[in-house]
Amino acid sequence: MEFNLSKEQALVQKMVREFTENEVKPIAAETDRTCEYPRENIEKLFRYGVMGMCVPKEYGGAGADDLSAAIAVEELSKVCASTGDIVATHNGLCCDPILRNGTEAQKQKYLRMLTEGRKVGAFALTEPNAGSDASKGTTTAVLEGDHYVLNGSKVFITNGYVADVTVVFAMTDPSKGTRGISAFIVESSFPGYSVGKHEEKMGLHGSPTAELVFTDCIVPKENLLGKEGQGFKIAMQTLDGGRIGIAAQGLGIAEGAVEEAINYTKNRVQFGKPISLFQNTQFTFADMKVAIEAGRLLTYQAATLKTAGKPFTTEAAMAKLFTSENAMKITTKALQMFGGYGYTKDYPMERMMRDAKITEIYEGTSEVQRIVIASHMGLK
Ligand code: CAA
Repeated sequence: MEFNLSKEQALVQKMVREFTENEVKPIAAETDRTCEYPRENIEKLFRYGVMGMCVPKEYGGAGADDLSAAIAVEELSKVCASTGDIVATHNGLCCDPILRNGTEAQKQKYLRMLTEGRKVGAFALTEPNAGSDASKGTTTAVLEGDHYVLNGSKVFITNGYVADVTVVFAMTDPSKGTRGISAFIVESSFPGYSVGKHEEKMGLHGSPTAELVFTDCIVPKENLLGKEGQGFKIAMQTLDGGRIGIAAQGLGIAEGAVEEAINYTKNRVQFGKPISLFQNTQFTFADMKVAIEAGRLLTYQAATLKTAGKPFTTEAAMAKLFTSENAMKITTKALQMFGGYGYTKDYPMERMMRDAKITEIYEGTSEVQRIVIASHMGLK
């Protein structure tokens, strides 16, 4: 598969790269230190059409393709994985399921809110006792007249305490297992919606992660997304797409770490010469480059298949598995090149390494990606 970027994709890359350099890089370390949501930059990303970029123009978006969206997350994640995560979640996990499964009225209302209205989106599937085993959630939704009543709680929700609109999964018929799960579009202003614990995390400090609590939460009947019982499929399909975003994030983190390490090793003199000239350093960089290029091909392939309307479940899982594990390996090795300095906050390496770890965990752990890949290999 060839990836000559189209004019539009190249423009997105250039625009987001410049934005990242000028607006994101200068505050990335401070965002990590203060754990503050980078609100101003997210506002700007709405203005530039990056938030909700795959939403068609008739619903207020930029009508970009999935590869452009992946490139945007890759570029942002080179210097700030938190910003990459906020964008990936908004686009891949909130706009995308509404675009694919929403009624015309839902699309007009919510996609416009998530683009022109500058409202932030989230996706709530995980529960305290239902992580990898996502179908075992116990949040319920009971139809009472013209609305559903939701009860339960969701954890580790990216954009959790800033989200205005969340796609929430709840059991409408527990006797039917995964076919008894339904999806809902829930606004944070709905009665009975509240934000619980704000997570303090190892990394990704600018990405607002929280618990969402539904206590007799009133959700209008017309906010059912898809049909009753289609929720689990919607969740799985959404995560297929979301995983391309995390693959792009892992790719970006690794690329950012290599860029930093190249600059550092060219200027760090030990034993009479820059350490970039030692063969050990060069071989390590060569291996990093191969891994990055392979990850890019997997990620861009998955994004291209998605836009073409072809199956991409396995490709997205392979891309996410490969780039996330490489992000961890590459940041660890890049930090090593900085020696003691890499372990300090004077350089971004320790932040990049902390940020990389989550890519192996969220939107399906590496183990879940292996389950998905193996399940398509005709082993049964
Ligand atoms: N696309 C469409 N349908 C799918 C599908 C897919 N990719 N994968 C499964 N399904 C369908 C199956 O066809 C099946 O449908 P039928 O009932 O019609 O036969 C149904 O879903 C159940 O499938 P399985 O029996 O395979 O499901 P399972 O319970 O064994 O789960 C799993 C499989 C892959 C482990 C899945 O549970 C999974 O992906 N777990 C990880 C969840 C995850 O990624 N969570 C992250 C949440 S989001 C996050 O982390 C970030 C944040 O900010 C919120």
